[in-house]
This record gives sequence, structure tokens and C-alpha cells, in this order.
Amino acid sequence: MPADTAEEAQRRARILPRLQDARGRLQPLLGDQTLLVALLTAASLGAGLAEAGVLALVAQVAAALVDGGDRLSTDLGPASLDVGIGPALALAAALASIRLALQLVVAWLPARISADVQAKLQTDVFGAFSRASWPTQADDGEGHLQELMASQILRATEAVLHLATFLSSSAMFLALAISAFLLSVPVAAGVMVSALVMVILLRPLNTIGRAAAQRLSQAMMDQAAGVSEAVRLTEEAQVFGTATDHRHKVGGLIEEGRRAFFRYQLAGRMTQNSYQSVIILLIVGGLAGLYLTGAGNLATLGAAILILIRAASQAQCAQAAYHGLCQSIPYLDRLQQAIARYRSSTPADGGSPLPVIRTLAMEGVSFAYTPERPVLGHLAFKVAAGEAIGVVGPSGAGKSTLVQLLLRLRTPTSGRFLVNGEPAERFARTDWQHRVAYVGQDPRVFQGTVADNIRYFRPLDDATVERAARLAHIHGDIVAMPAGYDTVIGQRADAVSGGQRQRICLARALAGEPDVLVLDEPTSALDSESEAAVASSLAELHGRVTMFIIAHRLSTLTTCDRVLVLADGKVEAFDTGAELARTNAYFRRATQLSGQAS
Ligand SMILES: Nc1ncnc2c1ncn2[C@@H]1O[C@H](COP(=O)(O)OP(=O)(O)OP(=O)(O)O)[C@@H](O)[C@H]1O
Ligand SMILES: [Mg+2]
Repeated sequence: MPADTAEEAQRRARILPRLQDARGRLQPLLGDQTLLVALLTAASLGAGLAEAGVLALVAQVAAALVDGGDRLSTDLGPASLDVGIGPALALAAALASIRLALQLVVAWLPARISADVQAKLQTDVFGAFSRASWPTQADDGEGHLQELMASQILRATEAVLHLATFLSSSAMFLALAISAFLLSVPVAAGVMVSALVMVILLRPLNTIGRAAAQRLSQAMMDQAAGVSEAVRLTEEAQVFGTATDHRHKVGGLIEEGRRAFFRYQLAGRMTQNSYQSVIILLIVGGLAGLYLTGAGNLATLGAAILILIRAASQAQCAQAAYHGLCQSIPYLDRLQQAIARYRSSTPADGGSPLPVIRTLAMEGVSFAYTPERPVLGHLAFKVAAGEAIGVVGPSGAGKSTLVQLLLRLRTPTSGRFLVNGEPAERFARTDWQHRVAYVGQDPRVFQGTVADNIRYFRPLDDATVERAARLAHIHGDIVAMPAGYDTVIGQRADAVSGGQRQRICLARALAGEPDVLVLDEPTSALDSESEAAVASSLAELHGRVTMFIIAHRLSTLTTCDRVLVLADGKVEAFDTGAELARTNAYFRRATQLSGQAS
């Protein structure tokens, strides 16, 4: 965010712009709920007027009873009231009932509005994340989205509740103040002045509260990231005996959170408590004012005092809600910034249909994750349909990066990636996703049956799922599982072995019958027998599917027509295995080493 100018800071320090600021942030969330918000304000106004009426009548009746009279008469602004005690009490009861009904509406509306807003925020955040580009998703810190979706949204939703409370309390305050004006102008003036003083006196506390909330929001995000990392590394911590170090690291984040939470709570509570004390002082001051001006009779004075106390309490509620609203804004800001960041990264969709992939070509392609450190430089090669291409090279050479470009997960920093001779980005992403499949270096399964893991949300029948499983040489393992294809697998207790996971994910890739198959180390977790089996599956696909196979173990590459040797982000050689064995030192050495290993 750009630094606030002095003018901006001054603008922000004013209450009205701040409320408009909050409203501006909440408006897109409230959307079609604006009517409900208006209803809430109207109901609160009505409840406040009804309450003022009850209080005025009660005070007058009490005064009449003290005087021993059976009628009461009072001035209500320009109008005057003169009724018996019985009808006055009946009127008071009716007004109290109306107030009760309106209060129920006032309770129901914020609950309804905030539940809707919370669900909308969650849908927006998750929707924007899932549509974001892969680089943006991959750059997100560990546990970032989880934390946004859980406590940050919860706190942002409080902004709506605070706004609702602010509106209803202000409306009730207004109703009471109007009633007070009707009864006695000095009392009403006292109420108004006191409210104004309140707001001015406590303004700095709101600014402090907002800053504290900002710090707390950040501390919570950091803590979530730290805890997620520690959870991911629990096995390592057990083996390396580093649990204490993890505790120390997370402990530091907890301490940071403790300090931020303390400041946040302190700011909130100081505001509330100072407010209460100032109110008591102002009530005393208001009474002194009445005494000095000698305004009104005893009954009017009693009614005015009652209304003054209730108005002050509504003003306090409105003030606390306003403070809460200030404290919720940083959470809302963080969410809206995250949504904007995700949305702005959403890749444009070319839209051209892609019925078949015939050729893939890189033309002078370079790529850098960060501007100062190029990873791939001037790649140029062309691959025809049905070719099987091996990609080898030392660790860190850029093989997985090349895979990400081939999958259109990332776009070249310069140069062009051509599909059927046209820039890849012209084609519809969904068509591309149907024609290209992938098994990554660390393939993942989700909590669900084996069949669902292979199907992966696509409308594939059981026969297709089984065919893919057979092709990936996992069918035998699956039928040996307790419930066969219906066995539930997942990340932790019901996990499958590393090699099984790799083959289930290979089956997932094959089940969609892709034109292009990209495999990043497809046999790294397999024993020699499974590796040979997968190699024979790949041999079966040879000619039908264009394949890119990244491998450290060159034995996996027997099916490949050509092998691309990548070194330090450049194409060092691109030829048949036989030719490379003759001309390329890296390939020769790697072949010798994998020969020794097998
Ligand atoms: N997300 C990323 N952000 C920044 N740099 C990255 C990122 N991913 C990879 N790199 C860097 O890019 C270079 C190439 O990485 P890449 O993963 O493509 O290598 P690789 O050839 O697949 O290695 P390996 O055989 O070990 O899997 C490395 O120097 C790596 O540090
Ligand atoms: Mg890699």
C-alpha cells in the first residue's frame, strides 16, 4: 500500500470519511443485502422511539402516583398529552411489546447478514485462489490460504456485525435523542454534546486499535505459516531430534502473536472502559446543567434522566461498534488484497479450440523466476505427435522448469511456445487441459477411493479407470487392497506407499487418454520390477501419445526416440540415445552410472 500523505492521514482521522471508507469496503460484500441493512436501521429507529415512549410514560406515571393524582399531562414538543394512568400504562405496555418485536428483528438481521457475508467472503477467496495463475498459487506462503479462510475471514465478518451494531445503536440513540428533544431541549442538548465529546475524546484510541489489529492480523498469518511448516516437517523433526528447535521457532511466533493480541485487547478494552467513565461524568454534568437552568417539572426531569441514561448506553454501544469496525478493517483489507492479487493473476484464456496436438515447439524460449537469475536460456526444439522425448540433465539444470513451461503452467519470459505452429496461449485452456496430462515429481492423492483418485472429478466409467490402472501397473495392487477400487486412501493413516502413489497418479494421467503426457521422474519411487513394468506401459503408448519423460535413471528412457540433454538451463544436445552415447559426455557418464545401479 502507498504511504499515506499527511492530507490522507488527516482525512482518515475524520469520523465520517472513515465510516464511508468502511462502507466502501463493505459495499461489495453487502451487495443485495443493502435492503436488509436499511431495514435494520429502520427497525432500530422504531425500537428506540418505542423505548423512549415507554420511559417517558413510566416516569410520568411514577410522578403522578407520587403526587397522588390519577391523570398525567405532559408536553411532547408541540403536542401535549393528557390521559388517565390506566390508559397510559396500557399504552406503555403496547409500546414495550412493539419494542420487543422490533428488537427481535434487530437481533435476526445481523445474524443473517453476517452469515451471508462470511460465506460470500469464503467463496470469493477460495474461488479467486483456485482461478489464480500457478505462479501466484505457488508463491503463496505455507498455510496462507487456510489462515485466510479461517480466522481472518471470521474477523473480517465481525466488521459486518460491528457495522450492524453501529447502525442499530446509532438509530436507537437518534430516536432517544429526538424524544429527549421533545421532552426537554436542555436535556437533548446535553445528550448531543456528550456524544460529540465522546467521539472526539476517544478518537486516538480508534487509530491505536486499528494499528494493533493490523499487527495481530500479520502475526496470525506468520503463526499459521510457521505451524504448517512444522507439521510438514514432523517426521524429519522426529528423526533429526529437532522438535525443540521447531518449538523454539514456533514459540517466537507465538510470543509475537501474544504481544500483538495484548495490544489489540488493550486498545479495545481501554476504549470501552474510558468511555463508560466519561459517560458517568457527562450524566452528572447533564444533571448539573438541568439543575442550573431549572428546566422542567419533576416528571419531565425523571423521564429525561431515564432517556439520557439509555441514550448514553446506546451511544456507548455505537462507539464500541465503531471501534470494533476500525479493528476489523485490516482483516477485510488483507482479504480484499488477497482476492485482488489472485484475480489479477488469473490467466487470460485464448479461446481457440484445440481438437488435437500435432506439434510442440520452443522458439528461443528463456525463463527466469526472478529477473536477476535466468533459469532457462534460448531453448529451441520441435517435437512431433507421437514422439517420446527423454529429458536429462544434472539436478537444478531446469528440467522441472521446462516441464512447467510445457504444461503452460508458466509462460516464457521471452521467446515463444508454439502448439501446432501457433502461440500456445491462443488455445482454450480447458481443451489444453483435456489433451495434456502430467505426473509430477511428488504426485499427490486426496482423501477418497482409489477409483475417485484415478477418475479425478472427470466423468470416466469404471472400465476406463481399470484400463488406466492396468496400463500403469497398479491394478494388481488395487485388487489386493481391502475394498479394491473402493478402498479409501489419503494423506496420513490411510496412505499408500510411495511407489503405489506414483502409479495411481500415472493411472490418473493415462485415464484421460491425453495427446501429450509429461512425466517428471515417473519411476523415481519404484523398484526395478515396477520400473520395468511402467517402462513397458510407456512402450505400449509409444507412437500414440507424445511423451516427455524426465529421468535421472536412464533405463527409463529406453522407449525414447530422442533425448534432450539440459545443462545449466541450455540445450546441450538433442538426439537419439545411440548418437548421444557417442557424442555427449554427460549422457555417456549417466548411462554408465545407471547401468551400474541396475
Ligand atoms: N519456484 C521457484 N522459484 C525460484 N527459483 C526456482 C523455483 N523452482 C526452481 N527454481 C530454481 O530453478 C532452477 C532449476 O530448477 P528445476 O526444479 O527446474 O531443476 P531440475 O532440473 O528439475 O532439478 P532436479 O533434477 O533436482 O529436479 C534451480 O536453480 C532452482 O533453484
Ligand atoms: Mg525437477
